[in-house]
Amino acid sequence: MSQPFLPFTRPSIDEETIASVAEVLRSGWITSGPKVQAFEAALSSYCGGRPVRAFNSGTATLEVALRLAKVGAGDTVITTPLTWVATANVILEVGATPVLVDVDPLTRNIDLDRIEAAILPTTRAIIPVDLAGLPVDRDRLYAIAGNHNLRVIEDAAQSLDASWDDKPIGSTGDFVSFSFHANKNLTTSEGGALVLPTDIDPALCERLRLQGVRRFPDGGMDVDVLGGKFNMTDIAAAIGLGQMKQLAGFTARRRELARRYFALIDPAFGLGLPLADFGNCNWHMFQVLLPAGTDRGRVIAAMKDQGIGVGVHYPPLHLFSLYRRLGFKEGDFPNAERIGAAILTLPLFPSMQDSDVDRVCAALGNSLREIA
Ligand SMILES: Cc1ncc(COP(=O)(O)O)c(C=O)c1O
Repeated sequence: MSQPFLPFTRPSIDEETIASVAEVLRSGWITSGPKVQAFEAALSSYCGGRPVRAFNSGTATLEVALRLAKVGAGDTVITTPLTWVATANVILEVGATPVLVDVDPLTRNIDLDRIEAAILPTTRAIIPVDLAGLPVDRDRLYAIAGNHNLRVIEDAAQSLDASWDDKPIGSTGDFVSFSFHANKNLTTSEGGALVLPTDIDPALCERLRLQGVRRFPDGGMDVDVLGGKFNMTDIAAAIGLGQMKQLAGFTARRRELARRYFALIDPAFGLGLPLADFGNCNWHMFQVLLPAGTDRGRVIAAMKDQGIGVGVHYPPLHLFSLYRRLGFKEGDFPNAERIGAAILTLPLFPSMQDSDVDRVCAALGNSLREIA
């Protein structure tokens, strides 16, 4: 009997959460309301009491963080080419210019040794990305930012419940941005949250989130700043509240599954493995590098034929047409290009069985032999 298709990721939504969403739908209040406030309070408590505001995406959180940091036209912002394109798009969205820095082949994250050479007189901020949930070294990152008076907007879209120095990501640092997109370790279907530093007024963050509107007790209102339409709904927040209760269990299960991959992937496959970090990383993704010269498209097709979905996260963003038009070209970031060309995301999500990992490893061996 053939086994059911195994996707590379799948959200785990329990019945209690589904019931809480139904309750919101029946309540008559389905946009931003008490559930959003409760979700923000739960996130804030997770982040050690820091102010947190919920949004409708992790793209909106990054954009608003840049605006709160007063980054705009004429400014440059440093980030990595190996990320979801949202990380760089928001820099363009606020009128600033992205300056990309190649990645470290070991962590696949921005190479901290190369940041200082990329700092210009116009540089205002760094957006580090914790790819696959592996945190960028926060000690070194903040030392560089401090020395050059730069703001940091941590793109922690993938690293909720990862940690640095035994502290959860989000509980320290400057701005910290989370995404709750369907594939993330905690989902609200779509959504995001922004952790605010102490010098930023949460009320201004709220105005940038919703049309710049400031309301007065007498029912009047004013708009003194241009805001967007980025608020989270109570429907989404109810999902988030249900997910928060399960987060620690999700992370523990992800770590177990990642350990099983390390134990079962046959070294003879010649794959490049991720850094085996079981202290900090939340194992948002388990990503291997195919041996040089392997036709990735054929591997993906062979895996699909065996009932297994795999993903590509990410093609290096500087080679997208939009970014080529800004002057980026092949050869600019050799590590990101080599990794982006060879990377493959294997299935990893909390409801996976141990036997699913066994199945993926066997199918990977078959696929590589088949196309050799
Ligand atoms: C690294 C990274 N940055 C930003 C985002 C944007 O988040 P969202 O899809 O919630 O807008 C994502 C999510 O896909 C991401 O993975």
